[in-house]
Amino acid sequence: MSSKCALLTGITGQDGSYLSEWLLSQGYEVHGIVRRVALEDPDHRLSRLREIRSRLHLHAASLESYASIHRVVHEVQPDECYHLAAQSFVSYSFDDEFSTLNTNINGTHYLLSAVKALTPDCRFYFAGSSEMFGVAETVPQNEDTRFHPRSSYGISKVAGFDLTRNYREAYGLYAANGILFNHESPRRGYEFVTRKISSAVARIAAGKSTELRLGNLDAQRDWGHAREYVQAMWMMLQQPTPDDYVIATGECHSVREFVELAFCHAGLDYRKYVTTDRELFRPAEINLLKGDAAKARRVLGWSHQVKFQDLVREMVDEDCRALGV
Ligand code: GDD
Repeated sequence: MSSKCALLTGITGQDGSYLSEWLLSQGYEVHGIVRRVALEDPDHRLSRLREIRSRLHLHAASLESYASIHRVVHEVQPDECYHLAAQSFVSYSFDDEFSTLNTNINGTHYLLSAVKALTPDCRFYFAGSSEMFGVAETVPQNEDTRFHPRSSYGISKVAGFDLTRNYREAYGLYAANGILFNHESPRRGYEFVTRKISSAVARIAAGKSTELRLGNLDAQRDWGHAREYVQAMWMMLQQPTPDDYVIATGECHSVREFVELAFCHAGLDYRKYVTTDRELFRPAEINLLKGDAAKARRVLGWSHQVKFQDLVREMVDEDCRALGV
């Protein structure tokens, strides 16, 4: 067992909660940066951490303030730093490009800069995204595929990726980029399409709702299970040298397929309940994302295990269970 110390941003989110559980199981001391409001409203904002809250060290700070990031890195002296926090909802990034770019790019820059100044031996993970590929030239996408982001969120992730690689090349920091394709679970936020669907299925099955409004049903994504993806993050930081890795299943499915399977699992015909709403289409859509995780398989020994159908069923089952269906 290790006695290493890890610092996470985004610890309250889906990935942060799974990664914390994984790191605790590996014997790490786990620290997380949270907004002050999260500590004031733990029942709501720390709900994903409920089971492990007493084993975590949480620090109030803001990714918009270099001084506060500097203070936490100085206090914690982490061996590994996982930078997961971001304004991560692509649709919202069209509504407010400025805050998405400012928060995501500056937050990454502040953290890298503080780690370089205070704990230069700390291993750094940046949560890159398949959104960086955008309109990709090739299918599937791997580490050599050119980036062509289609939203300010995607642009901010390309900037974070470049900053991370630059700190590796210019300052010798152990800094790795994960390029993670969509990863879901019952802990996914309700604004993302998979959880929007699974929670609506549960509400409809419980007789609490009769309709689900969605945008582009034809978009295709490569969906995996978040619990498995966070282990890949950790594996990246256990290698002798830092590098960048695509993490994906290599399978893609349309939103419509997700919808059909989710409703069918609850014994419902989606055509009776689902309507499409032009308002929910994005100004610039990414129609197809499919990852090639061959490098992660070869170097990290990582591969996905949970199948698409099982992911959908688990999400629907959990949401139904919560409503007593
Ligand atoms: N959110 C949402 N809501 N998406 C919808 C809807 C809807 O009502 N209807 C159709 N979609 C389509 C979107 O247009 C998109 O093509 C697809 O469903 C997936 O949307 P999201 O679940 O919001 O995820 P995303 O692919 O935009 O981005 C997610 O994955 C990235 C890659 O891992 C986010 O988690 C990003 O932060 C992440 O980087």
